[in-house]
Amino acid sequence: MSTGNVYGVVLAGGTGTRMGNVEKPKQFMEIGNKPIIIHTIEKFVMNTSFENVLVLCPKQWVKHTQDLIKKYLINAERVVVLEGGSTRNETIMNSIAYIEKMGKLDEETIIVTHDSVRPFVSHRMIEENIKYARMVGACDTVVPATDTIVESQNHKMISNIPDRSIMYQGQTPQSFKAKKLRDLYNGLTSEEKEILTDACKIMVIKGEEVHLVEGEVSNIKITYPYDMRVAEALLGDQ
Ligand code: CTP
Repeated sequence: MSTGNVYGVVLAGGTGTRMGNVEKPKQFMEIGNKPIIIHTIEKFVMNTSFENVLVLCPKQWVKHTQDLIKKYLINAERVVVLEGGSTRNETIMNSIAYIEKMGKLDEETIIVTHDSVRPFVSHRMIEENIKYARMVGACDTVVPATDTIVESQNHKMISNIPDRSIMYQGQTPQSFKAKKLRDLYNGLTSEEKEILTDACKIMVIKGEEVHLVEGEVSNIKITYPYDMRVAEALLGDQ
């Protein structure tokens, strides 16, 4: 009986261009003497709700990721390493294709998708993601915007300043009923797919509800070299 299975989906298919010229994608760089991706997978493995934790990385890094998991994780039986896609959303689609291939995809199957480079996700955030994805069909982890958001259509002059009290910054996890997400994504034109940076936007542009989950300022995404120093400091705080 597979109804309502929950899968952790750790997105590691990127190459980290903004991190600069490093010899490996940023998710494999170390903080606290351990690769970032391992810190993140640990958070997912600790949650017993997941049928499997799927980790998706670039094809040429699959073996390396499997070796790291063997080296660092004690309870790795539920972790499956797969090949990512050409975009973040294509990586998510690969995870859904795997669940389907295993004969486990149905209307209630939930995926909790998370950036591999956000190692400070908490148990509470993951639990609330599962809860709201089940209840509503989709949810997004966010924090209230601290800086005023300034919009500029032409990148020179201000076109709008939205009311900060209703602005949030998106983090991850983002969680979905997997089959619905896949079907909506497949219904998009290639132009629509191209402008999507965010999986929740697939739901939003199709008029579907997405519930908010409270994130944390500490749930940073490691993007630039500076973030590595912040991450080391945050690890020291834990
Ligand atoms: N990601 C993915 N598959 C892709 C692209 C990105 O799984 N085809 C993942 C990244 O590995 C990362 C997360 O999505 O964990 C957030 O993306 P981002 O920080 O933009 O990562 P990169 O694409 O690697 O970085 P950059 O944009 O600097 O190249």
